[in-house]
Amino acid sequence: MNEPVVSVNNISKIFKGSKKKAKDFVALENISFDVFKGEFVSLLGPSGCGKSTLLKIISNLIPSTGGKIDIYNENETEKKIPQFGFVFQDSVLLPWRTALDNALFPFEIMSNKKKADEKHVKRLFELAKLNGFEDSYPRQLSGGMKQRVAIVRALSYNPEILLMDEPFGALDAITRDELNNLLLEIWHSTKKTILFVTHSISEAVYLSDRIIVMGTKPGRVLEDMHIDIPRPRDEDTKLSPEFFNYVKKLRVMLKNSE
Ligand SMILES: Nc1ncnc2c1ncn2[C@@H]1O[C@H](COP(=O)(O)OP(=O)(O)OP(=O)(O)O)[C@@H](O)[C@H]1O
Ligand SMILES: [Mg+2]
Repeated sequence: MNEPVVSVNNISKIFKGSKKKAKDFVALENISFDVFKGEFVSLLGPSGCGKSTLLKIISNLIPSTGGKIDIYNENETEKKIPQFGFVFQDSVLLPWRTALDNALFPFEIMSNKKKADEKHVKRLFELAKLNGFEDSYPRQLSGGMKQRVAIVRALSYNPEILLMDEPFGALDAITRDELNNLLLEIWHSTKKTILFVTHSISEAVYLSDRIIVMGTKPGRVLEDMHIDIPRPRDEDTKLSPEFFNYVKKLRVMLKNSE
């Protein structure tokens, strides 16, 4: 796990004031960290610290104002396809398409680059415990199921890295716990690198190998923390003293940075 797949070097982002007298806004200041192959890394921080902005810069959806993102991929033939799968808080499924057709949608957008791999997508449906729901429409699925379809869609074209922006934030606590466990299973089976945004301390500790703790005004890195809790993790993990210690340490860190 020693080779970085993403290297974030001194990234800054300034949003220009929209009116003449409005001040520029420093959303991110000198953000640097590496994400290594196969790692599960979380970005944890309060609302407005720039987590979503950073994910968008990493995936090249918006430009940074300064700094550089390096993406490493040893596989030349794969270079033509996007390196990132993106899962948002809202599943953003197309309502007129079935779950399977939603999951296959990315192949249509890049039709000249990669052929739809239905076998792989069907396997992802199984991994996401969605088998039997391939022909269902989004309106027939629960919120948790829709997010699972969004995860399948993001992995359909086999990107190296999965970027997730508070994917379970809108779900109830029980479904959220279930999906956390399911995500760990999918991560384990697919060996993807995951960069996961959350403002839930316990979710970050439960899922991650490492947590990049962010503070606000300006958005910056407070700490790069390794979570040395053995895997596989399960519901009992959340009752362990080490889990509690990490949660406490992070809570104090975030409180002190306010
Ligand atoms: N296009 C934009 N123009 C101006 N300011 C912006 C723009 N996008 C984001 N910002 C500002 O940058 C800051 C960081 O926003 P961002 O959405 O990245 O935060 P976040 O950490 O993802 O917050 P949350 O946890 O609430 O999702 C916020 O203060 C936001 O108002
Ligand atoms: Mg956000």
